[in-house]
Amino acid sequence: MHSFVSPLKLVTGEGSIKNITEIINTFNAKKVMIFADPVVVEIGLSKGVEEILKQEGVEYSLYTDLQPEPPLEVGDKAVNAVREFEADLVIGIGGGSCLDITKASAVLATNEGTVQDYLNLSGTKSLEKRGLPKVLIPTTAGTGAEITDIAVFSLEDTKDVITHEYLIADVAIVDPELTYTLPPRVTAASGVDALTHAIEAYVSVNATDLTDTLALEAIRKITKNLRTAVWHGSNKEARREMAWGSVIAGLSFYNAGVAGVHALAYPLGGLFKIPHGESNAVLLPYVFDYIWPSCLPKMKILAHEFDLPTEGKSDRELAVSVVKSLQDLGKDVGLPTTLKEYGIKESDLDTLAENGIKQRRLLVRSPKAYTLETTRAVYEAAYNGTLQLGK
Ligand SMILES: [Fe+2]
Repeated sequence: MHSFVSPLKLVTGEGSIKNITEIINTFNAKKVMIFADPVVVEIGLSKGVEEILKQEGVEYSLYTDLQPEPPLEVGDKAVNAVREFEADLVIGIGGGSCLDITKASAVLATNEGTVQDYLNLSGTKSLEKRGLPKVLIPTTAGTGAEITDIAVFSLEDTKDVITHEYLIADVAIVDPELTYTLPPRVTAASGVDALTHAIEAYVSVNATDLTDTLALEAIRKITKNLRTAVWHGSNKEARREMAWGSVIAGLSFYNAGVAGVHALAYPLGGLFKIPHGESNAVLLPYVFDYIWPSCLPKMKILAHEFDLPTEGKSDRELAVSVVKSLQDLGKDVGLPTTLKEYGIKESDLDTLAENGIKQRRLLVRSPKAYTLETTRAVYEAAYNGTLQLGK
């Protein structure tokens, strides 16, 4: 038996942000809290939402005291802001961290306590109330935060999450027009994050026919369009396909789960403040270099989906060609492909491994199990940029 969960309503397409009018009426909203990344406000992406709220005569407060990979204090301040404003609807417009804060704040606003109280690894409370309705509007094509029920927070040496069905969006609005001005590096990092969601979901031990169908469609869209979206950001079709690919990957990974790449990426974010998408991108080839023998039939299908040469090749050769192409993709979109490039030292690898192996919630979905030694070996490969490729 399998179940499949998604936001209650998903609105997509160019100009879909106009749907805010209907949402205001549906929820009979009178006081709206908007969370937006400072840069989103600066480049005018929150204007459309604000204009609609003004037209509808709805009181709103715009909150921008946010940051990527937010520590707990940023979350607590946001929760208090919603409580103090006495909002009846919360809208988040921004990258994954902004949407995570929106989810957590909307729910915690009507529950007692702090972010720390509800963390997955160390929290002591469980959410009792559903919280305020929330609308999530991504401005990047990648994180899938508008789809999932997870809010990620940075701790001193790693990350932890609040995860609960109450955090699922009431409405997710995916408007590709909001991604037209994304700079190449953000497009690349969020795009590889989306690809990682799709590939990790595809080989997850919890994958189903439905999540596989979604994962493969997301992989097709992203591998065909990511390079164009990065280097020709004004290409509307590439932006649309990336927005769709990200949503579809989000639906797949939310239900099948991500695993080793995300697990090992968490300490890179926690300890070295490497943005989430880049943490995944720098590990993606090396994790798959480790796990491919455990999911050979699916790696073979991926070789076809990646449009790699397949004639006369054995399944093993096809699998390692996928691994190699993941490393090539990182280079092609201008992202670092080794941990060295981030200033990480060989002496940091033990600490990374000790923190990475703690992410059991994620690692249990991996088709190949991890030990402390194999976890360290993956980090070491990523440190040096060396692939075994079945040798
Ligand atoms: Fe991710």
